[in-house]
Amino acid sequence: MSNKVKSEKIKPAETVRPFTAVILAAGKGTRMKSPLPKVLHPVAGEPMINNVVKACLEAGVTDVRVVIGHGGPLVKQVIEPLGVHCYTQVQQFGTANAVKSAQIESLEGDVVILNGDHPLLEASDLKSFIQTFREEKLDLAVVTVELRQPKDFGRIVRHQGRVVAIVEAKDASADTLKIREVNTGIYVVRGDVLSEYLPQIENNNMKQEFYLTDLVSLCVESQLKVAPIRGHKRVSFGVNTQAELAQATRLVFRKKSKTLLDEGVLMLDPSTTYIERSVEVGPGAVIYPNVYLRGKTKLASFCVIEPNCYIVDSEVGESTQIRAGSYLEKAKVHNRCVVGPYARLRPETEIMDEAQVGNFVELKKVKFGKKSKAAHLTYLGDAEIGENVNIGCGTITCNYSADKKKYRTVIGNGVFVGSDTQFVAPINVGDFAVIGSGSTITKDVPARSLAVARAKQFIKENYVKVEAAETDQASDSASGADK
Ligand code: UD1
Ligand code: CA
Repeated sequence: MSNKVKSEKIKPAETVRPFTAVILAAGKGTRMKSPLPKVLHPVAGEPMINNVVKACLEAGVTDVRVVIGHGGPLVKQVIEPLGVHCYTQVQQFGTANAVKSAQIESLEGDVVILNGDHPLLEASDLKSFIQTFREEKLDLAVVTVELRQPKDFGRIVRHQGRVVAIVEAKDASADTLKIREVNTGIYVVRGDVLSEYLPQIENNNMKQEFYLTDLVSLCVESQLKVAPIRGHKRVSFGVNTQAELAQATRLVFRKKSKTLLDEGVLMLDPSTTYIERSVEVGPGAVIYPNVYLRGKTKLASFCVIEPNCYIVDSEVGESTQIRAGSYLEKAKVHNRCVVGPYARLRPETEIMDEAQVGNFVELKKVKFGKKSKAAHLTYLGDAEIGENVNIGCGTITCNYSADKKKYRTVIGNGVFVGSDTQFVAPINVGDFAVIGSGSTITKDVPARSLAVARAKQFIKENYVKVEAAETDQASDSASGADK
């Protein structure tokens, strides 16, 4: 070890410093064998890097910088709206070179360095790292975990109990490879320390890359305060293959299920219930197996979601039942309703209290009034249905016209729509009107009136000539005669 001394430029820690972050995401992700940039692969429905960014923001990081490279423009498009700044690393010369690309001289305060492909990281992890870093007045901290099979991770080499270096598996001796304490790839470092020591890193190693891990030995040699911080195993979980991606997703789902169970949600089989992190479920809700809940979905207390339902960005009210096999997208179902089995609610559909939407009913952009029913085989689109309306089986709104525009159907309160009715929109039906079955309604129907628009029934008697013998046979079987 050389005898360099602590540099003049390193000032003592002030009390409140900003907390900033650099996320490394320029790598190719060759082993994913997929054309999508690695960090955009979804873990439980969300690009994995989004979770890392969100953890930073939630932990109070004021300046999040992401180093992009492979698939950069696409990555940038996805993450910039979250409020981060992207920096391009032109060629992947190693993790130290990647950090350098983020214009670190302008980073203030304490800097956390992370990998974009470690999607299980949580805000609470970051908060505890920064807290320990500050409490112990460190200059550099490396987050470590102990693994039974440390595989390719960089090994934490200690001397008399203190960390002195990180050695990459590829550069390690057989003895070093036996070390089970590894580098998670997460570091916390004072901004000024980073600016001073990062440029000193060299690339004399097996891969001829600039290793960020060398920051540890450089700082130790300069007698700065370097220490490991022990992290939860999840922070070391990196995604490099499709199998690891699937495993990450499974872990996120499992954790979400556990959280919901702890909060009083009833789940018949949590291992086959797929609920994204962002979903909210009230206590007392019942979720059957094979249910998939996504995005901004919110389920109120005491609702029941039967098997094989797929619900995305939708709200389900209290004591509402969503029966088996239903598909809801950007829909809102209020309280005490019954939907399905096999119903499809498309965007901008709102179902008011105590309404019933039965099997093979598709609704799109529909406001469906309180206590109204559409029990079977119906399509309603661009429609407003009042309260206490009965929509008969096989009713269709013909909302899409030959002029390629869409028109609305408005049906008042208490209307009775007979089965197999078509409304050729635009149409208004007044309160309490009755529509005869099989009608094709092309004109507005006034309140309390009856509208029938179907061909009149026509009867021609003795239309079919039958042989005398057949008549005999028919009358025999009709009378149940035993021959
Ligand atoms: C790195 C660490 C290792 C640690 C492991 C934890 C180094 C030298 N080694 O190894 O000690 O145990 O992480 O996962 O740092 N990246 C760039 N530009 C580059 C190279 C990498 O942006 O030029 C990004 C990658 O996209 C990835 C991260 O940096 O997000 C880590 O790079 P990777 O090559 O996976 O490092 P490891 O070999 O896993
Ligand atoms: Ca890695």
